[in-house]
Amino acid sequence: MSHAPRLVILDTDPGVDDALALLYLRARPELTLLAITTVFGNADVETTTRNALYLRQRLGLDVPVYRGAAAPLQGPRGPSPLHVHGENGLGDLDLGDFIAPPVDPGAAHERILEAVRAHPGAVTLVAIGPLTNLALALRAAPDIARQVAEVVIMGGAFGGGNVTPYAEANIHNDPDAAAAVFAADWPITLVPLDATMSCVLSNAAAASLAHTAGDGGRLAHDVSRGYAAAYAEHEGLDGCVLHDVAALAWLVRPDLFEAHEGPVTITLDKERRGQSLRTNAPSNVQTCLAACGQTLAAHFVESLQGSTSR
Ligand code: BDR
Ligand code: CA
Repeated sequence: MSHAPRLVILDTDPGVDDALALLYLRARPELTLLAITTVFGNADVETTTRNALYLRQRLGLDVPVYRGAAAPLQGPRGPSPLHVHGENGLGDLDLGDFIAPPVDPGAAHERILEAVRAHPGAVTLVAIGPLTNLALALRAAPDIARQVAEVVIMGGAFGGGNVTPYAEANIHNDPDAAAAVFAADWPITLVPLDATMSCVLSNAAAASLAHTAGDGGRLAHDVSRGYAAAYAEHEGLDGCVLHDVAALAWLVRPDLFEAHEGPVTITLDKERRGQSLRTNAPSNVQTCLAACGQTLAAHFVESLQGSTSR
C-alpha cells in the first residue's frame, strides 16, 4: 500500500551533512519538500542561507528558502566550526560563479506557522540545526504544537557530546530554544549522536557516488571531502557521519532505528549547558538511541543512485 508523501519543512544550517540531507530528501519519493528554512549554526545565517540558495539551484528544487534566526534566544552566537564545515560552511566546495538570488520574503518562523496552518496535521518539521526557529514559532503561536504532524530533530547526545563532553552542537548552539521545543506538547522524534555516529558514509562509497549518481553524486563526494578529513583526524574514521541524513531517514526507514519513549530535558547552566537528559516514561517524545548505521549508509547511497536523472 503506498502512502501520500509526507510534507516536510527542512529547518537547516547548511552545513555539509545538511547538504547530504537535502540530496537524500530530493531522492526519496516518500518525502515532499515544502520549504527550506535557515538558521545560524554551522556558519552565520547569511552564509547558511546563501548555501541553501546554492543547493536549491544546484539540486533544481522548486521551493522557497526563508531566512531564520541569526543568533540564539539568549546571548551571542558561538563560533562557526570552520574545522568541520569549512570557511564557506560547505566544506570549501567551489561554488563557481554562483550569485545568490534574493531570499524569499518573510521570517522563517512566521512562514513555518503559515505552512502548518495551511496544512493542519500534515506538516512534518525536520530540524537539523539549532532549534531557534522552532522555539520562535512556538513562542508566537503555542497552539501550533497541536497542528504539526511530527517534529524530527537531529540533536542531543546521551553518551557524550561533540562540542563539550556533555553537549551536541545543535543543542549547544541554543539550549534555551531546545528546552522550549522539548517542553512543548507535540510529537517529537529525536535522533541524537548515539544513533547518528554509526551512520558513516565511507570514503569508498563517496568516491563511487561521484561516478554512479549523476551531479548529485558528484556533489555528495565533493562537498564531503574536508568533512571526512575532519572525521579522520578527530575520530579516526574512514568516512564521514550522516547526522542530518539520519533524521530524514527516520521518516523513510524507521525500522533502522531503536526508538524509546521518554521525556527529554536540556541542562541550561554551567559547564553542562546544552546537555540532553532523558528518562523512560510515557511521553510525547521518543529518542532513537541506536541505528543500523551501515544499512542506513547503504540506503543513502542507493537512494542517490536511484535518482540520477534528477
Ligand atoms: C549536527 O551539528 C552540525 O554540525 C551538523 O550539521 C549536524 O546537524 C551534528 O552534531
Ligand atoms: Ca545541520
